Amino acid sequence: MKYLLGIESSCDETAAAILAPSGKILSNIVFSQSSIHNKTGGVVPEIASKNHSEKIHLIINEALIKANVKLNEIAQIFVSNGPGLTNCLMIGVIAAKALGLLVKVPVHPVNHIEGHIASCFIENKVIFPSLCLVASGGHSSIYYLEDEVNFSVIGSTIDDAAGEAFDKGAKLMGLGYPGGIEIDKLAKEGDENFHKFPIAKLDKNSFNFSFSGIKTSLRYFLEKNPNWKNNVHSIAASYQESIVDSLLQQLIKARKKFKPKSILISGGVACNSRLREKAQKSFIDSSNLIIPTPKLCTDNAAMIAMRGIQLKRKDNIDYSFGVYSTSRKIN
Ligand code: KG4
Ligand code: ZN
Repeated sequence: MKYLLGIESSCDETAAAILAPSGKILSNIVFSQSSIHNKTGGVVPEIASKNHSEKIHLIINEALIKANVKLNEIAQIFVSNGPGLTNCLMIGVIAAKALGLLVKVPVHPVNHIEGHIASCFIENKVIFPSLCLVASGGHSSIYYLEDEVNFSVIGSTIDDAAGEAFDKGAKLMGLGYPGGIEIDKLAKEGDENFHKFPIAKLDKNSFNFSFSGIKTSLRYFLEKNPNWKNNVHSIAASYQESIVDSLLQQLIKARKKFKPKSILISGGVACNSRLREKAQKSFIDSSNLIIPTPKLCTDNAAMIAMRGIQLKRKDNIDYSFGVYSTSRKIN
């Protein structure tokens, strides 16, 4: 059996995974730089790419050892080439191309967001048509999935991503990075009805999101309430509640229109315990709600290899693809 190697380095996780052609994960190694970026309260691109370059070969090697697979048993390599931080993506792409030349196997570029969607397929059976909410540090969108190949965007954020709202909100409250994890932890001890942070009112026919208003209103709230630290748990819970409700409101609206057979939620924000809990309640009548295990929600390389498998790419030995930083519409 020939195996598949996935490589991911789009932001602050250096990751490599080995999958069997069936999609079974044999290894999934992720090195998170969050403790490095914690000091600056956010990802500094140069520091992130420098760290990827120091770690990438070690992570790939670890993935091979853990899977008990040799380099010459790899049949194809899949690498995330965008969207993401250009300098970071380049480290993964160059490593993939070099290995491809060495082992003489095809190297395929994979869209990082499509990878997040593919993470829902690793442990679950998805029934089509389906809808997928991707909520991460860089993206918040809803996709319509016609089948395992054809994904199209039906709505996206018009400003900040949901994860960015968590990260920026956490920074305002002097919490560490990634902010979503910190807010999630604090919120467990707080009252979500303590304060109502605004949910953006967009065109009622759109499935878009907006999160810049929530962050600004948190900033004003903290400025107006100098003793806010006494209520930090409840502020975190209220802030989290608004982000979660904005995400779910749009997904519920999209479900009414598209009548999907499966509803999927992926991306780092899908680790959020309140989002997981409220999604279960909102879609109780939808027998097929799929939210991957947290390790597959945040950036990883198994999802990149899985997307490669879905696209059934076979013969691309042309290594001339590059990287791209901004999100683009997937057709
Ligand atoms: O998917 P991901 O690992 O990277 C991107 O593609 O951006 O997502 C990272 C984002 C960060 O913004 C982080 O704060 C958020 O996911 N996140 C969470 C939680 N865990 C990670 N947000 C809310 N609650 C969490 N438990
Ligand atoms: Zn991601």
